[in-house]
Amino acid sequence: MRKILVTGAQGQIGSELVPALREHYGADQVIESDIRMVPTSPNPGLASAHGDYEYLDCTQAQQLEDIVRRHQVGTIYHLAALLSAVAEEKPQIAWNLNMGGLYNVLEAARRNNCAVFFPSSIGAFGPTTPRDKTPQVTIQRPTTMYGVAKVSGELMADYYAQRFGVDSRGIRLPGLISYTALPGGGTTDYAVDIFYQAVRYQHYACFLRPDTRLDMMYMPDAVRAMIDLMQANPSALHHRNAYNVTAMSITPEELADQISKHIPKFVIEYEVDPIRQAIADSWPRSVDDQAARTDWNWAPQYDLEAMTEDMIGKVRRKLNKSASETE
Ligand code: SER
Repeated sequence: MRKILVTGAQGQIGSELVPALREHYGADQVIESDIRMVPTSPNPGLASAHGDYEYLDCTQAQQLEDIVRRHQVGTIYHLAALLSAVAEEKPQIAWNLNMGGLYNVLEAARRNNCAVFFPSSIGAFGPTTPRDKTPQVTIQRPTTMYGVAKVSGELMADYYAQRFGVDSRGIRLPGLISYTALPGGGTTDYAVDIFYQAVRYQHYACFLRPDTRLDMMYMPDAVRAMIDLMQANPSALHHRNAYNVTAMSITPEELADQISKHIPKFVIEYEVDPIRQAIADSWPRSVDDQAARTDWNWAPQYDLEAMTEDMIGKVRRKLNKSASETE
């Protein structure tokens, strides 16, 4: 089997996708790469956390090409990108990395006959998209640089599939909730921060309004979705880039209520950040993921309740806090 390369592997998704891929395909089959010079293993005790690591700046086409050839890479999970809020602060850098990096990955894939996984996002939609049960195929006119690069990326990945036969596949990820590595600079980050603050201080100041409804997913479901989509029978895929997927459609208020069931003293207040609120208000409140369910049997395992219970246990263990200390 040719190897799997993961770019941006030290980020929120990669920190959990890499161990899962190594579990699945063998540790020596998966090459981790990131712009950080030295890898920090979030879980040093885990055997699957160890394997080849390469420094890679995805905007440097030659670096990418060298790694793909040297390791005989057959599949690239391309995760290196800036998230929505930070992309709004640095739109030029975001375009260079998010779009330029993807272009380099697709070119390397074309030349070396690799499959490509591209993570699109609910951010690929905009204020003129229907906001409830957003259809698989609909209006996509995002108003953020993050979203502009995601729509362009979906189109570019489809173009490489049609024009050059590159086996590119993608999903439109909702906000991802996880405990291994923190997200950096996204609009949905509140749904991760809230758990750390609830366990540490039983208090959280949320940067989105209490009624801001957005799709979310627990990381184990997202990792399974990425691996399953890449393993799916290509003839069943009516869409390539990219499939709507969701696990829950929730507001900060609903998440806080659920956390209060485990941490009764928990208090949430709201200090709204107008930039991130405007981004959230331009995204769907919920998406329709029927196409993914039909074409490759997508189904989430964690709802709000199950995710909250698991997250609180995992964050308590990570922060070394007993249940009695944090109730
Ligand atoms: N979680 C991402 C963000 O907030 C959306 O894809 O930027």
